Amino acid sequence: MKKYRFGVIGAGNMGMAIVRGAVGAGLFAPEQALLCNRSAQKRAAHAAEGYAVTDDNTQVYTQCETVLLAVKPQNFDAVLPALGLCGGEKPLVVSIAAGVSFAKMEAALGADTAIIRVMPNTPLMLGAGAAQLVKNAAASAEQLAAVRTLFDTMGVTAVFEEERMLNEVIPYAGSAPAYLYAFADAMVQSAAQHGIAEADALSMFCQTMIGSAQMLLRGDKTPAELISAVCSPGGTTLEGMKVLEDRKFYEIVAEMCDKCIARAYELGK
Ligand SMILES: NC(=O)c1ccc[n+]([C@@H]2O[C@H](COP(=O)([O-])OP(=O)(O)OC[C@H]3O[C@@H](n4cnc5c(N)ncnc54)[C@H](OP(=O)(O)O)[C@@H]3O)[C@@H](O)[C@H]2O)c1
Repeated sequence: MKKYRFGVIGAGNMGMAIVRGAVGAGLFAPEQALLCNRSAQKRAAHAAEGYAVTDDNTQVYTQCETVLLAVKPQNFDAVLPALGLCGGEKPLVVSIAAGVSFAKMEAALGADTAIIRVMPNTPLMLGAGAAQLVKNAAASAEQLAAVRTLFDTMGVTAVFEEERMLNEVIPYAGSAPAYLYAFADAMVQSAAQHGIAEADALSMFCQTMIGSAQMLLRGDKTPAELISAVCSPGGTTLEGMKVLEDRKFYEIVAEMCDKCIARAYELGK
């Protein structure tokens, strides 16, 4: 019998967003979650929110029903070996690390460890995230469904059969907020050149991103049809679209995504 419902190893930005999301959705209470950080300052901040805290990862691994691995991929080599030496009933392991494979985790934790890999993104902090999930052979369909339910409370989810798909999806959700922020930033900088205040530019462009996404999600028109509806012949939008075409916008986006995915495979080595 485990003492805690949920544990987090590496309670940083993502780990806290997920645990707070789960608490907010009523899946468990803060005192039913045990969080581990190395820094005393972070532990004190989490304790002030009502969570149980520790500086010992093995305590999280042995005392929690489900354990979220939320350290950076580069920190896995420092974290996994000690967990692999823990005795007793194994927890359900959920990893959100980009690129860290089942093979790497199973080599340290044992192939009989149930592991769900999840690729989340930061908008889940607002309940508007997109998370993709895949399970290993040891994890059951019920365990996958339970973890999916957790992430469903924070946005939309998709399940994949093949592990490699968690690398292939990264540019389109996990990393995508950064690409969208870059586009927003470029628009705001351009607007400043035309005398538009930053706050006004940001508000009008963000609302336009939300509205345009909603138009796309209605699903009754393709992106090409929606573009064409905005581009009147001889009009203003078309002049701008010609620049995107001349500068090979689609090729730039494809290269950006390819590089992002390649890095996920590199991190997994
Ligand atoms: N940020 C994103 O948009 C995003 C999207 C998808 C997936 N992810 C994945 O989410 C994971 C976390 O990213 P993040 O942005 O949340 O990073 P983060 O804020 O740096 O959080 C990582 C936490 O791990 C703790 N930590 C480091 N080494 C530790 C150890 N040996 N034992 C216990 N805790 C340790 C750090 O705190 P202390 O230094 O106090 O220990 C830190 O708070 C990464 O694997 C990343 O690939 C992130």
